[in-house]
Parts: sequence; structure tokens; C-alpha cells
Amino acid sequence: MTKIAFINSRYKNFNDATIHIEDRGFQFADSVYEVISFFNKNLIDLKLHFLRLRYSLNELDIQYNFTDEKLTKIFWKLIRFNSLKSGIIYLQITRGVQPRSHAYKHKIKPTVVIYTQKKTFNIPGNKFTGVNVITHEDLRWSRKDIKTVNLLPNILIENLAHKKNAYTAILIKNNKITEGNHSNIWIVKNNNIFTHPINIDILKGVTRTTLISIIKKCGFKLIEKNFTKKQLYNSDEIFLTSSTGLITPILKVDSKLINKGKIGNITIQLAILYFKLILK
Ligand code: PDD
Repeated sequence: MTKIAFINSRYKNFNDATIHIEDRGFQFADSVYEVISFFNKNLIDLKLHFLRLRYSLNELDIQYNFTDEKLTKIFWKLIRFNSLKSGIIYLQITRGVQPRSHAYKHKIKPTVVIYTQKKTFNIPGNKFTGVNVITHEDLRWSRKDIKTVNLLPNILIENLAHKKNAYTAILIKNNKITEGNHSNIWIVKNNNIFTHPINIDILKGVTRTTLISIIKKCGFKLIEKNFTKKQLYNSDEIFLTSSTGLITPILKVDSKLINKGKIGNITIQLAILYFKLILK
């Protein structure tokens, strides 16, 4: 079957969907993106993704105006064209094409790329699995709140994690946990749930936002406060959240087993509630 992608107002065969060599996304990572999961005919947390996309575009002064309806239509068409049941939509918007120069011109036309990838998800049930992670210094730039494709530190750290047979890395800045390499990080201690507060040191994850509403509704105590590596090691449970990982338990950090290497009760409860909510 031919794979279809969307590029600059057109649906094209995947291998023909190419960009210009002077696209600023290619040359300078002058570009933002979103990863949206879909599962059993649900586009998960779609509104929150659009909100964050507008925020990222605005912070970088990339002039791309869109309506949620228009992009949603494109997403569904791609899902249909590619005959998918579950997977991700990758959406990238670059500032556009101009002769190479650090300074950008105003009024250039943004490049829009959208395509799908097939994916199965880690869903609570018999096959619900936890992962091992490593910790690593947070080497990223200072505006982690913007979802840009400026991901070189993340990919170097991720490869290091894979070399050590870990799923991903938890990042540390000034002895405080910021977030995961491509996720938000949560710990449970004495039935309290902790995660880093929203500021420029982390991405405001859409899964994080949805989970917070669940936590508040079901009466767990949530503390949005940063925590140290020592607190991470000594926590009762750890899990990560992201659009691709949903809620994924973490069973080992570096060489430290968490909850004796078993998925924690609160993690399971939250994963079940989250899953019920997104499938509503
Ligand atoms: N990453 N923090 C970082 C640095 C991320 O890259 C991501 C998502 C998250 C979680 O955000 P959300 O819940 O909105 O997916 C937090 C995506 C999935 C990626 O880059 O593939």
C-alpha cells in the first residue's frame, strides 16, 4: 500500500513529500511540531495539542494561521488514506524557505508537513509494561516550554540511554528533576503525587494536563513542586506521561529498583482512569 503524507496543501506519496534545501526547519531547526496519538477512532487530547501549537508558533513568531477544523480534517483523511486504526500524527510547521541567513524574513510562507505512523500503545491490562530509565544532565536550551524540533541534546541522550538498555532518560538540572527526554515525570511518595511545576524548564505536556484533572477529581494529593535525584530514587512509584507513552510505569532508575521492580498501585489506577477518559 502506498503511504500518503500531507505537505503544503497537498496529499502526496510519502517518498515524494519533500522539502526545499533552504527550508529554515532543515537548516536552523526553525520549526515547531506536535505528536498526536489516535486509538480506536479517537484523536487523543486534540484540543490541547492545538492550544500548545498556537503557543509554540506565537513564541517563535511563526506566522501560520489555522483552524482546528481544517487540521482535524487533514488528520482524518491521512488516517483513512493510510488505513490505520492506531498510531500517531506527526505535524511539523517550519518558518518557511528563504536564502540562508540567521535572521528571518517576515511574511514568508510556512512549510506544513503532516504524516501518520502506525503504533501500538502501552495500555493497562495483561500486557501493561514498565520500563528502565537512566538519569542524565539536562543539556537543552533554556526555552523547554516551546515544542521545537531543536532536539539534538535529546537525541544524543536518548542514544546513550539505549546503549545502556534503558527506554529513555530522566533529565536533571541543578540537582532537580526537570522532565523526561520526551515525557513528563511523576513520583509517588506516601500517596502524594509530585511533578515539576509549569515554567520554561519543561514542556507543558497535554497528557500531564489531562492527568492532573483526573488526579484532582479522584482525590489524590498532587504537589507541583520540583524534586531531587535522591527523592526520585527513594520514591514509592515513578511513571512518565506523553502522547506516545500515555502513562508508562518506571521500574528502575539507573541501578535503583523502584517498588521492588513492580508497577505501583497508584500508577495502575491512574493509567486505567486516563485510558477510560481518552476513550470516552
Ligand atoms: N514528546 N516533555 C518533552 C520534552 C516531550 O518531548 C514530550 C512529548 C512531553 C510530553 O508531552 P505530551 O504529553 O504533550 O506528549 C514532555 C513527544 C511525544 C515526542 O517528541 O515524540
